[in-house]
Amino acid sequence: LDNGLALTPPMGWLAWERFRCNTDCINDPKNCISENLFFEMADRLVADGYLAAGYEYINIDDCWSSRTRGDDGRLRADPERFPSGIKAIADYVHSKGLKLGIYGDYGNYTCAGYPGSLGHLQTDAQTFAEWNVDFVKFDGCYAHPKDMDKGYPEFGFHLNQTGRQMVYSCSWPVYQIFSGMTPDYASIAKHCNLWRNYDDIQDSWASVTTIIDYYGDNQDVLIPLAGPGHWNDPDMLIIGNFGLSYEQSKAQMALWVVMASPLLSSVDLRTIGPEYRAILQNRAAIAISQDPLGIQGKRIFKDKGIEIWARPITPVVGEYYSYAIVFFNRRVDGTPSQVSVTIHELGMLNAAGYRTEDVFAGQSYGVLYPADRLKVDVNPSGVVLVRCSAVPARAFGRPP
Ligand code: DGJ
Repeated sequence: LDNGLALTPPMGWLAWERFRCNTDCINDPKNCISENLFFEMADRLVADGYLAAGYEYINIDDCWSSRTRGDDGRLRADPERFPSGIKAIADYVHSKGLKLGIYGDYGNYTCAGYPGSLGHLQTDAQTFAEWNVDFVKFDGCYAHPKDMDKGYPEFGFHLNQTGRQMVYSCSWPVYQIFSGMTPDYASIAKHCNLWRNYDDIQDSWASVTTIIDYYGDNQDVLIPLAGPGHWNDPDMLIIGNFGLSYEQSKAQMALWVVMASPLLSSVDLRTIGPEYRAILQNRAAIAISQDPLGIQGKRIFKDKGIEIWARPITPVVGEYYSYAIVFFNRRVDGTPSQVSVTIHELGMLNAAGYRTEDVFAGQSYGVLYPADRLKVDVNPSGVVLVRCSAVPARAFGRPP
């Protein structure tokens, strides 16, 4: 969607995967979906360095609203759990330099049974704008997937008519895919800033790898759709929760940055361990994610449990891109696997070479030339993420 927003994949925090539809604030006041949760997470995003690293959106998901609309026909926040109202949360997060996201649903109900926007598209877009919301995730439960080709653009039109800049996150293709339709991706990329293509992420390695496989297996369709303002969305980062080991957490981060995915973390920022926080805040990984070219990376090798993924990034030197490379070990045979490839085999042909560094180890391999071999040891269900920055011919001249 060409609305000037999401020129790089959006980064922030999203409530759903970790906090779900817990509305029991009597018995579980610290974890229920309430304004306190969002105030606390906003505080953590700023105080613990996430905002400084680029995580700027704090996004509400399902179960924030009252079970019924107000007498004026408008959506309203649950009065017990959100006594201050959504606008007060927006004002608070804005005062801290953050942006607020909210959740709606194109159908009759949200997935959790709260009021949907069908029949109220214009009103709800206006309400979100009046609350000074910056990001709208629009789900697709209780709707006919065929109607979405018209409905999602219609809601986008109303968002645009409000005059307020709001990132538009669509669930349009995923509902169509799961009902056997072929999504009209040209229209989806034109009308949405990001869109969910596949299943909801769950707190497990199996879920993460299933998603990675979907994006790899469908990359010829999906890669051309991505670019500044329009992104495929493989769903939230679950790093720091219960389901992923440290190695698997680096793997999710590496794959998500190389797939040019939105980085929407869903984790309890009050209790996340320091090593997981460091993965989320790894500056070199984030620089790859936010590379201005916005090209989605590709799985270029897959054999016997080893995969290699490559994303073209800046700097571009003459006709040569720089690359972020993920060496991904899917094996579980307990010991690291050595992968050895030449720079040339990875598709890098710049004769002046590539300054090469291991992103998570923070270690430099110096300048590697196309004939040089890159050897990495990749831990089981882990990755090595490498950045190869093309060297300008004149500066470090070796004649071609
Ligand atoms: C389905 C979406 O895909 C999830 O991300 C989440 O928003 C739930 N609905 C909420 O009910």
